[in-house]
Amino acid sequence: MSKHLNLAILPGDGIGPEITQQAVRVLERLAAQGHFSLTLEQAPVGGAGYRASGHPLPEATLRLAKSADAILFGAVGDFTLDSLARELRPEQAILGLRKELQLFANLRPAIIYPELAGASTLKPEVVSGLDIMIIRELTGDIYFGQPRGIRVLENGEREGFDTMVYRESEIVRIGRLAFEAARKRDRRVCSVDKANVLETTQLWRDVMTNLGKEYPDVALSHMYVDNAAMQLLKDPKQFDVLVTGNMFGDILSDEASMLTGSIGMLPSASLDANNKGLYEPIHGSAPDIAGKNLANPLATILSAAMLLRYSCGLSQAADQIELAVRKTLSSGIATPDIYREGCRRAGTVEMGDAVIAALA
Ligand code: IPM
Ligand code: MG
Repeated sequence: MSKHLNLAILPGDGIGPEITQQAVRVLERLAAQGHFSLTLEQAPVGGAGYRASGHPLPEATLRLAKSADAILFGAVGDFTLDSLARELRPEQAILGLRKELQLFANLRPAIIYPELAGASTLKPEVVSGLDIMIIRELTGDIYFGQPRGIRVLENGEREGFDTMVYRESEIVRIGRLAFEAARKRDRRVCSVDKANVLETTQLWRDVMTNLGKEYPDVALSHMYVDNAAMQLLKDPKQFDVLVTGNMFGDILSDEASMLTGSIGMLPSASLDANNKGLYEPIHGSAPDIAGKNLANPLATILSAAMLLRYSCGLSQAADQIELAVRKTLSSGIATPDIYREGCRRAGTVEMGDAVIAALA
């Protein structure tokens, strides 16, 4: 009997619904082919959650996310709600899910497909063959540190403050994951910090160095974050696994996505200690193109592949999706973000159709 999967589908805002719909179609096709059986339950999140029940992460949505085997997430963000109090803004949904479900490990692979080497703003020879894995700690750091706020000083001037903080145990657990991931790749880990200035990241470096001794088969190096930002543009292929904290990882993973030509191509996994996970494209809700059948669904479809691989142990089905995406790209159809000369223009739905056809 095939494995049964209970998946929570959280489409969110903007292009979220249309891209998750294509990924769901892909999963349903694989289920129809007998790889697994599937129960899908959908719930509103982000701006959609706020509109449905007054909170970006409605209680019922959180309950569903907790009870599911894994979560497929679209995108959140709705600028018409930006004037709400921070705790009601759409982005709080994803931060709340990460914290509540203890999804401490964020895997953001940046690979370049041969067809898209020319779509990068960098020279093809700098990026072709690129295959790096950014591992970002996701539940600590200045994102969640207390205290934080905006206070009024005695002279009436306002002052904003946040707290950057990491515990040893938090660094160890993300570090281990990075070393283990490197063992399945090229066995190189570059740990990114700002140990020349920040105490928190001095601790980060010390803990990583110590941990590295348990992985003598993996080469560990350290790099300051400003240099890492530069090296990613200068010679990105020098990296295999890059591990860093929450804030540096947020920034470096956006930078890395651009090396690949389009942010519309990159999936991500956010995992807890038991490999339960939330899977989402790394791009945002793109309200400017929402509902126009223009969005590239491939990052979400590739996120579904990661879901099958990491949370469900279905690596063969995951491979099949990834292969179908490669075939779709080489067949020469393209959404606007990855359009190259000579391609046939496709919309979100046509791109989904092509991947499904390639699954056969
Ligand atoms: C990301 C996003 C989020 C983050 C936002 C939407 C809160 O930029 O997933 O990288 O900063 O983590
Ligand atoms: Mg980000």
